[in-house]
Amino acid sequence: MKREFIIAGNWKMNKTVEESIDFVKELDNKIEVNDRVKVLIFPPFTSIYSIRNLSDKIKIGSQNLFYEEKGAYTGEISPLMLKNLVDYVLIGHSERRGIFKELDSDINKKIKTALKYKFNPVLCIGETLEQRKEGETFERIKKQIDEDLKGLKEQEIKSIIIAYEPIWAIGTGETATPAQAQEVHGFIRELLNEKVENPEDIFILYGGSVKPENSFDLLSQKDINGALIGGASLKIDSFSAIIEISCKIAK
Ligand code: PGA
Repeated sequence: MKREFIIAGNWKMNKTVEESIDFVKELDNKIEVNDRVKVLIFPPFTSIYSIRNLSDKIKIGSQNLFYEEKGAYTGEISPLMLKNLVDYVLIGHSERRGIFKELDSDINKKIKTALKYKFNPVLCIGETLEQRKEGETFERIKKQIDEDLKGLKEQEIKSIIIAYEPIWAIGTGETATPAQAQEVHGFIRELLNEKVENPEDIFILYGGSVKPENSFDLLSQKDINGALIGGASLKIDSFSAIIEISCKIAK
């Protein structure tokens, strides 16, 4: 089976403009990518403009976008401001949901806005530790998929990248086992099968303490089409090692 990957770094609230520029230049020098591996970075907003054209090998995305174009929304970022600067937008990250109280209804509006402005949305979903312990993982995932993608046409759903990130594995050092991750990825693929033809064309990324040591086993799973990486994307050595591993599997 042909394997293609998206390896995405989510920098969260890390790196100044200068640090971002240095990082992208160094990473560009260090990595070799083939046409089956796409490398993506979600830097802070302040760095986007300076790094957007520094490397042909690295695509840039935004960590958020608001569903209105302009107005009295202090601290929000508009699709018009991001247009022509980024190709991808991260939507519904668990930190946005948890800390900033974003609801599935907000996330649905953001996805629709992203599609309207021709961005590629990367939709994050995932269960909490309590939900997993209670055996509610699949129910939670289904609810998020149904509510976040509500009202979208088949073609629109096909242009969305999904990132499955179990919340208990984010920044904790605890990773889902490859089998645990594959089980949920397979389930997401089944859910998508009810909404689109050829759900195998949709990229489903795994996120949650991905590092060089566990990336080979995770990326070797049949329904894992890449990784969304927080902590390990902040260091050149670990991020480039994961990219290298994905290129080997993608060959
Ligand atoms: P982590 O973060 O790799 O540091 O666990 C992943 C994410 O939040 O996207």
